Amino acid sequence: MIDCNGRTINYLRISVTDRCNLRCTYCMPKDGVKLLEHSQILSFDEIVNFTKIAVAKGIDKVRVTGGEPLVRRGVTALISELSAIDGIKDLSMTTNGTLLEEFAQELKDAGLMRINISLDTTDPQRYRSITRGGNIEDLFRGIKAAKEAGLSPLKINCVIDSSSKEEDALLVAEYARREGLIVRFIPKMDLESGVFGVVEGGGGGDCANCNRLRLTPTGKLRPCLFSDIEIDIRKEGALAAIEKALKIKPIKGLCNHNGDFYNIGG
Ligand code: 5AD
Ligand code: SF4
Repeated sequence: MIDCNGRTINYLRISVTDRCNLRCTYCMPKDGVKLLEHSQILSFDEIVNFTKIAVAKGIDKVRVTGGEPLVRRGVTALISELSAIDGIKDLSMTTNGTLLEEFAQELKDAGLMRINISLDTTDPQRYRSITRGGNIEDLFRGIKAAKEAGLSPLKINCVIDSSSKEEDALLVAEYARREGLIVRFIPKMDLESGVFGVVEGGGGGDCANCNRLRLTPTGKLRPCLFSDIEIDIRKEGALAAIEKALKIKPIKGLCNHNGDFYNIGG
């Protein structure tokens, strides 16, 4: 599908929960987020139905995100259903990796192709401080399990303050080299001010070539991360919501006052 500015839209990012078992300082408020009511959250059926319609319109790349997608109960069943949709060429997940020891093989068996894992430092104390309490050993075990399950290529998302040469980033780069993982450095963004940068070696922040739509856990379709625009797929219906999103997807994002990263997954 083509949007109002001639961009081909083929990438759908689905956030399945706004909860997370970590509280990264740049992503989550210290005390966590107000829990959504169960009825507000899209059911797996609603997500799958929406995705089928999106794929019929031209989406061929789907990423499941959070929050932390693996804290949503039964998420592997959702992956199975998504992977059964004809027309998805690339089915991936962004995860913090801490629960992969338990889920990697199940996810692979369900048809997940690959994953991106968030890792901003390999120093245990720094990791604990950035994630407000995370244990880096959980992540190392998760990465091992993901490799063994054959979820490849394995990519690391590393959020940086200002440079890929800063200390934590260098640690992650060295670790990735040793482990044979691909790293993408992501400049820390401030959604309120709309300060955002192009991801080194990846998409994002590149409005002229933006190919994505985002679906939030409560069923709001967001054509742009850096805009307040959202369309309720329950109210409008999937097809009308997609058509509207294509019509109003901004040519360039400015800023965003209504959300944080935890409900959109980057
Ligand atoms: N700036 C940049 N990336 C962020 N993420 C979360 N918050 C931010 C932020 N403020 C991204 C990270 C993480 C993913 C879940 O979301 O890349 O890996
Ligand atoms: Fe959780 Fe990822 Fe946000 Fe960290 S960045 S709090 S791991 S969703």
